Amino acid sequence: MNADIIMPPQVAWATGLLTHGPVIAKTTRMSDLRGVFADTAAWQCHDPQQVIYTVEMLDTPTPEGALFVGVTRLRAGTSGGEFYLTRGHFHQRREQGEVYFGLSGNGLLLLQNEQGETRLEAVFAGSVHIIPGETAHRLINTGDVTLCALAVWPTVAGHDYAALAGGFAVRVFASENGYEVCHA
Ligand code: PA5
Ligand code: NI
Repeated sequence: MNADIIMPPQVAWATGLLTHGPVIAKTTRMSDLRGVFADTAAWQCHDPQQVIYTVEMLDTPTPEGALFVGVTRLRAGTSGGEFYLTRGHFHQRREQGEVYFGLSGNGLLLLQNEQGETRLEAVFAGSVHIIPGETAHRLINTGDVTLCALAVWPTVAGHDYAALAGGFAVRVFASENGYEVCHA
């Protein structure tokens, strides 16, 4: 037996920072989110370079059966009154599920199946979200600090952004009481 102790990758729970692993990162800016917010005129008024969310993930091997681990950090804010959100997607391999874990901040996980049925789960430090197959998913930051969530998903899953390019059936806007859920 090899007695060397391997130092695994680490995630800082409060900040979502991934270290000690080969990490790859993707930044999504306001300019990347054309057509994602309901109010296009309001979207056009933002600095196009503004970072809306980042995803850092471990650059792991991708054979069938392997899993990816990644952290999404979604900034706080609104556009046209609608809370900042991730683009959202189905998996290309529709039967593949995913698990999200809330790390910090407060928000919602919007889930929508192929029939257009939706549900919202509260996301907070310690929340666990089992996303079944055939279910599109989007994070929404309803708080006033960055929302961080850890995700684990099959490397074979892939992303299908096109299927919901026309928008999810539910949108979440800021209101006097916190937030208001609107059905399209
Ligand atoms: O695998 C996931 O579902 C997440 O890591 C998302 O990719 C991440 O939250 C960014 O969202 P999207 O891929 O919809 O832009
Ligand atoms: Ni996913």
